[in-house]
Amino acid sequence: MKPEESISPFKALGNRVLALLDNYRDNSRKAQGKVLQNTDAALLAQTLNVEHWIRNGGLDHDKIEAFLTPYLEASQHLHHPGFIGHQVATPHTGAAMADLIHGAINNPMAVYEMGPSATVIERVVVNWMLEKAGWFTADNLSDFSYDKNNGAGVLTHGGSLANLTALLAARAAAAPNAWKQGTPDNLALITPTVTHYSMARAASIAGLGQNAIIPAPVNDLDVLQAKHLEATYNQATDAGKNVFMVSLNACATATGLYDPIDEVADFCAAHDLWLHVDGAHGASALLSDRDRACMKGISRADSLTWDAHKMLRTSALCAAILFKNPQSLADAFSQEGSYIFYDDNAAGFDIGRTTVECTKAALGTKLFWVLAMDGEKELGRFVEKQYSDTHGFYKLITAQPDFDCPCAPQSNILCFRYLPLANNDAQMALRTEIVRRGNFYITTAVVNTTRYLRLSVMNPLTTKATITALLDEVRDCARVLS
Ligand SMILES: Cc1ncc(COP(=O)(O)O)c(C=O)c1O
Repeated sequence: MKPEESISPFKALGNRVLALLDNYRDNSRKAQGKVLQNTDAALLAQTLNVEHWIRNGGLDHDKIEAFLTPYLEASQHLHHPGFIGHQVATPHTGAAMADLIHGAINNPMAVYEMGPSATVIERVVVNWMLEKAGWFTADNLSDFSYDKNNGAGVLTHGGSLANLTALLAARAAAAPNAWKQGTPDNLALITPTVTHYSMARAASIAGLGQNAIIPAPVNDLDVLQAKHLEATYNQATDAGKNVFMVSLNACATATGLYDPIDEVADFCAAHDLWLHVDGAHGASALLSDRDRACMKGISRADSLTWDAHKMLRTSALCAAILFKNPQSLADAFSQEGSYIFYDDNAAGFDIGRTTVECTKAALGTKLFWVLAMDGEKELGRFVEKQYSDTHGFYKLITAQPDFDCPCAPQSNILCFRYLPLANNDAQMALRTEIVRRGNFYITTAVVNTTRYLRLSVMNPLTTKATITALLDEVRDCARVLS
């Protein structure tokens, strides 16, 4: 191997960074060290010497270790089996490679000519996702023609922007003049109160306001009850609301439970309402022959949000908003930016026409790399494994007399509670102490007024042994707290 001095600074630095990252991943995967160190912010800024580097520069392959080692140590360790916290993927090697390539070549993609390869990959990946939803029937995924059998979609920096895009498209269908004249003040949408807050934000951003959100009827576990939708709808209409959309969760962020898409589709069809499915987390079940049933009825929806950075193993961010009708995507943003979109006869297509964003990263390449390395079947097996492992953890936890769960999991999200300290504040205190110790990273969620500890089983290396150790840690934290 050449000495580092004789190779380019890019490669010399890159080699060191890769070696340090490899070591970090390896140690994390072996559960060596903490998941999270909980370092004080001011102390961390000092340890990392952030101001020194900003003022003076000089970070190179010789000095990188002094910076990157404490940087990685203080970071959240998603490769560690004890990372069972937020719904963020333990990143796949392929996604890391895509990020590296994008960082090196920087091909943002508002217009085709600024990123031809990445644009083509995004369109093929979107067609693949459309196919899984039943909205793409062309012979091959590189068919870029829009016709009534092929839906349309775009990748966004996150499910929140995807939800906003869906709302704008639904608004355009209900109130075609809204883009120009503003949002009519009686438009309303029905959605469970536990719907991810990005939908409530989208309602205000789109000019509907929070009063436009009508809580959907739900059961004790916050799952939408389609049979009561009619009453909710009639009550809203009697009060002068123009209900145009139902948005449901597949699955819900807190519990991981799926709303019944098929039943809600019947209701929406009867009233000519837009059906949006927020599948940011759970749409990946579409890849599994076994778990696809959770998404039954998806082809009858109008739009679907699907995050690849949750269950499809990409780094953040890589989300999709998909539409059954290709016109819906075009209608969401009926704004001409003639200085950018000047050439309708160009070789490709300008994705910037159909996103909130202008300049955007080569998001599709992340998912492409994961698929290109493992193939779609393997990715489906990954989703299935996470779902069935979580079911195994549920059985393990409910077999303990001092723990309970509010329900059996339908996905890889699982809520549970330590019974000897079964009040909301105590569960919160337990979570704080567990995270402070740093051996596990978990979250909490409120289900129907009761607070639970919450696991998102994102890491394939999290096993029954991990969960058994976690339960012991909970008991020990409880002993110290009481
Ligand atoms: C159901 C659901 N929708 C939307 C989002 C927001 O997605 P993002 O964080 O990619 O913006 C989340 C995030 O957890 C979610 O669980």
